[in-house]
Amino acid sequence: MASQGTNNIFMRYVLAIVIAIIFTPKLSFAKQSKLIGLKMNMIDECWRPNPEWRRHRQQLATCSVGYVGKMTNNIGKDLIHYKVTDPNDDPINPEPGTLRYGASVIQGKVWITFQRDMQIRLMKSLLISSFTTIDGRGVNVHITDNACLMIFKATDIIIHSIRIHNCKAQAPGMVMGPNGKVISLGQVDGDAIRLVTASKIWIDHNTLYESEDGLLDVTRGSTNVTISNNWFREQDKVMLLGHDDGYVRDKNMKVTVVYNHFGPNCNQRMPRIRHGYAHVANNLYLGWVQYAIGGSMGPSLKSEANLFIAPNVGSKEVTWRKDGYKNVDKWEFYSVRDAFENGASFVVTKGGRVPKPNYSKEQGFKVVDVKSVRSLTKSSGAFKCSKTSIC
Ligand SMILES: *[C@@H]1O[C@H](CO)[C@@H](O)[C@H](O)[C@H]1NC(C)=O
Ligand SMILES: *[C@@H]1O[C@H](CO)[C@@H](O)[C@H](O)[C@H]1NC(C)=O
Repeated sequence: MASQGTNNIFMRYVLAIVIAIIFTPKLSFAKQSKLIGLKMNMIDECWRPNPEWRRHRQQLATCSVGYVGKMTNNIGKDLIHYKVTDPNDDPINPEPGTLRYGASVIQGKVWITFQRDMQIRLMKSLLISSFTTIDGRGVNVHITDNACLMIFKATDIIIHSIRIHNCKAQAPGMVMGPNGKVISLGQVDGDAIRLVTASKIWIDHNTLYESEDGLLDVTRGSTNVTISNNWFREQDKVMLLGHDDGYVRDKNMKVTVVYNHFGPNCNQRMPRIRHGYAHVANNLYLGWVQYAIGGSMGPSLKSEANLFIAPNVGSKEVTWRKDGYKNVDKWEFYSVRDAFENGASFVVTKGGRVPKPNYSKEQGFKVVDVKSVRSLTKSSGAFKCSKTSIC
């Protein structure tokens, strides 16, 4: 009996190995990423090494970290798959096949992909509905030369691998709202992406540049936002967190800014923070003109393991405070494990305690040593991936 028992256990063991061999992809993710010579950051490592990522696009929703948490509300059985086939735009009566039809008209969980490379010139701001994912991986999608993206009173949105640039201010007018009903929208500044009273928003791997106002504005009570792996360049005002000095609701704003690449030719606001809290970690700063990180109205900042490379000419100081340095203690600007090159400096708040992000388990991530920041931000921005290869 004893030997038979052992035999059984042995047979089970063999079976387990056979099953493991059958069901394991040819190479483990970690092995594959080593083979292609890339060191990936924690978000990318969650999906990029999978050679079958095109068939498993929704895996991305489980890869987010920081205040946005996981995007699992964006996937599931009731997900609608929508493919953009037509680059044209009608702001009031969008045709099926256009981006606006998928992003504003269709309600519920929608995962938007693109049939081919395309350049989309929006006639008015695109108001994205809750539970929408815009996934530009595998194609080259530009949103450019007129209106750009707005998230207005909506939640649970992913914007991934899109090039957004040359955005222009828009006069007031009628436009398809995020609830599939035409609304009247006031004057809009020329921002690439603007959040207005939005929450649980993940902006990952986009390339943003040369817009009339800013590249990414988080305003009017928006919170629970993660801005990761983006490439911001050629811009005066890069990123605004907090609407205006009088908008105290932004005190609750929480934003994670991680693995982004700023520059070349960015002037200021990377980010500019009002009222709320930002955890800015593992970003690469290739110079600035006025400053890199600034704020007003007692903002809190934990700047952690970023690489700040000062410009050759202009200010070497990373931070800026609206009222100068006389009320320095009102600003909670802390720098932890940051690295400074080319003479960069960082005026920190004296005394006090570094405000911890207090992430939950699914929001948390390991902030890596600043030595790895260059390599971990190397593939920031929208991806160039050929039809066959890995991204
Ligand atoms: C933000 O996320 C937290 C959980 O991390 C949640 O308690 C809070 O309600 C969220 N805020 C909004 C406005 O959705
Ligand atoms: C995290 O918790 C501590 C202790 O409660 C608090 O002082 C700090 O402000 C919190 N951080 C944020 C970003 O709210």
